[in-house]
Amino acid sequence: MVGKICGTGSYVPARVMDNDDLSRIVDTNDAWIRERTGIGKRHIIDGETTSYMAGQAAMRALERSGVKPDEIDMILLATSSSETVYPCAACEVQRMIGATYASGYDINAACTGFVLAFNAAQAYISAGFCRTVLVIGAESMSNMIDWTDRGTCILFGDGAGAVVLRAEEGTPVSMAAHSDGEKGPALTGLSRHRKGWEKELEDGAVKESFIHMDGQGVFKFAVRKVPEIIEEVLEKADASLDDIDYFVLHQANRRIIEAVAKRLKTDISKFPMNLEEYANTSAATVPILLDEMDRSGMLKRGQKLMTAGFGAGLTWAACLFEW
Ligand code: COA
Repeated sequence: MVGKICGTGSYVPARVMDNDDLSRIVDTNDAWIRERTGIGKRHIIDGETTSYMAGQAAMRALERSGVKPDEIDMILLATSSSETVYPCAACEVQRMIGATYASGYDINAACTGFVLAFNAAQAYISAGFCRTVLVIGAESMSNMIDWTDRGTCILFGDGAGAVVLRAEEGTPVSMAAHSDGEKGPALTGLSRHRKGWEKELEDGAVKESFIHMDGQGVFKFAVRKVPEIIEEVLEKADASLDDIDYFVLHQANRRIIEAVAKRLKTDISKFPMNLEEYANTSAATVPILLDEMDRSGMLKRGQKLMTAGFGAGLTWAACLFEW
């Protein structure tokens, strides 16, 4: 058995902050941000919480799938910015959508979270442990950002995306995942919920930013590791680059995606992007993009998609699956 996507959904806050808005907060400008990242704007929560957005995306995905909430037996929610440590956001979504018989938990693996959750769902389904799994990526990155740090605040946005997976006969998925904890300091995030952070901040024990990043280090890591893991998954599947219809990559930076396409000697048209509109919504980028691709009619049954995520940990993961 394999998990087939039978519905997608997404939710982004209505409040938009474009690059010009940002240039009134920090010393930056639209041209710089677009040239270095491809980002034009980001949607920012205006009272919404991470689990609220996750629940909205889930409801939209369920509606499109025709699956009823009580048919779901697992909810996997990838997030690093939930409003509570517990209860987990997955249980909050379970309550919101009335998925009475589902178990659920959160997966904290930053921008790689959705792909890891998707892989876990596939493993549960192929093992016969689950039949219907709701996989969500949801983030309120604006709560994690130091809005005085132009090196990071320009990069992120808020939002949520979800897919419903149902067990069907079909071509097995191929997947891979890696971590390198030694390189953890390259990208760190401090929760504002951590007790005493204001005092630590005052004492200088933590630096002023909630997200610390070695931008160029992360850039180089992504450009090297993403092509490697894509090749690894292709080899496992006995497939080639030409077999892939679309590469649905984590939307961190247009230049990273272009560099990956170049390294793989694959036309950039096979790498859909939406970061101009949403920026980097961390674990939510891949399911938001899948939802947009599905709604726009780009996707046809039987097409082969390669998804890949990368980010803090450092972590990176990929999955080849059939639409
Ligand atoms: N606006 C204007 N100028 C800025 C700026 C901003 N928002 N941020 C940095 N600069 C300046 C720097 O101060 C520097 O100025 P200097 O040359 O006078 O010292 C110059 O621009 C170049 O900075 P640099 O950090 O070398 O730029 P870069 O080309 O590496 O781009 C990132 C910075 C963050 C866009 C890029 O490194 C990146 O995207 N990395 C990956 C980050 C990422 O995607 N993380 C999430 C992964 S999940």
